[in-house]
Amino acid sequence: MNIAIITGASAGLGQSFFRSVCARHPDLEGIWLIARRRERLEAMAQGCPIPVTALSMDLTDPACYDALQERLTAAGVRVKMLINNAGLGELDNVIDSDWRTQSRMVDLNCRALTAVTTVVLPFMAAGSCIVNVSSIASFAPNARMTVYSSTKAYVSSFSKGLREELRGSGINVLAVCPGPMKTEFLEVANITGRSPMFKLLPYSDPDRVADRAVVLAGRGRGMYTPRLFFKFYRLLAKLLPHALIIKLCKT
Ligand SMILES: NC(=O)c1ccc[n+]([C@@H]2O[C@H](COP(=O)([O-])OP(=O)(O)OC[C@H]3O[C@@H](n4cnc5c(N)ncnc54)[C@H](OP(=O)(O)O)[C@@H]3O)[C@@H](O)[C@H]2O)c1
Repeated sequence: MNIAIITGASAGLGQSFFRSVCARHPDLEGIWLIARRRERLEAMAQGCPIPVTALSMDLTDPACYDALQERLTAAGVRVKMLINNAGLGELDNVIDSDWRTQSRMVDLNCRALTAVTTVVLPFMAAGSCIVNVSSIASFAPNARMTVYSSTKAYVSSFSKGLREELRGSGINVLAVCPGPMKTEFLEVANITGRSPMFKLLPYSDPDRVADRAVVLAGRGRGMYTPRLFFKFYRLLAKLLPHALIIKLCKT
């Protein structure tokens, strides 16, 4: 049985990934959706021609990784696509913030993504692919989002390393690095109304970002940065010293 797994599927970009996977891979025999809000996941299953399994999991709870492994083993599935999308941000200086908030970001954006990938990989085969949701914040450190941008630098670096490890296996890894999108993320991260930079930047459409990422991952691409503006930023962040970029890109 060929399935796709999407984490953080109950909102924003995760819902967009769900729509794209349904449309582009009607041959799948199951889609497993992971997030904490079960009722949202169950609502998404309504009307979907592919059987959907709603897995209510808090991915910051280490117990869920063994639970996922057991379910995969019991179901005897092959994972054609893993989309590590669950993530969270926080706009604040580290000194003004609570350690729990900062640690939760590391737990979800880094540890959960690593653990889920490690658990799922043995259930993948040639032709499978992994999409890891990173961010333009991975290109250089962003003051006031220091921990968030550090976690996304990890996601991009992890994706590149894993892609190289898997070369020759037929399993591709793509890191997608979007700029801002109008999702719940902006409220959850306390960004709305508090960041002049977020008011200036161009926004991306989550449906377009997700759909393009699904297509490019299947074609073997390793990195995808939506919008020309941010492709240019990525280049600048490679060419210029980060000491300068940090001054220009304060959130
Ligand atoms: N929006 C942006 O501007 C932006 C820009 C660049 C990159 N990104 C990245 O895009 C990804 C998706 O973000 P989004 O914009 O769609 O944000 P969102 O609307 O806030 O969605 C976040 C998703 O993650 C899930 N989630 C949060 N904590 C979780 C936990 N402990 N366990 C399991 N699931 C959890 C949420 O579901 P539950 O609450 O139901 O658990 C939700 O489905 C993230 O990795 C984010 O860093 C976003």
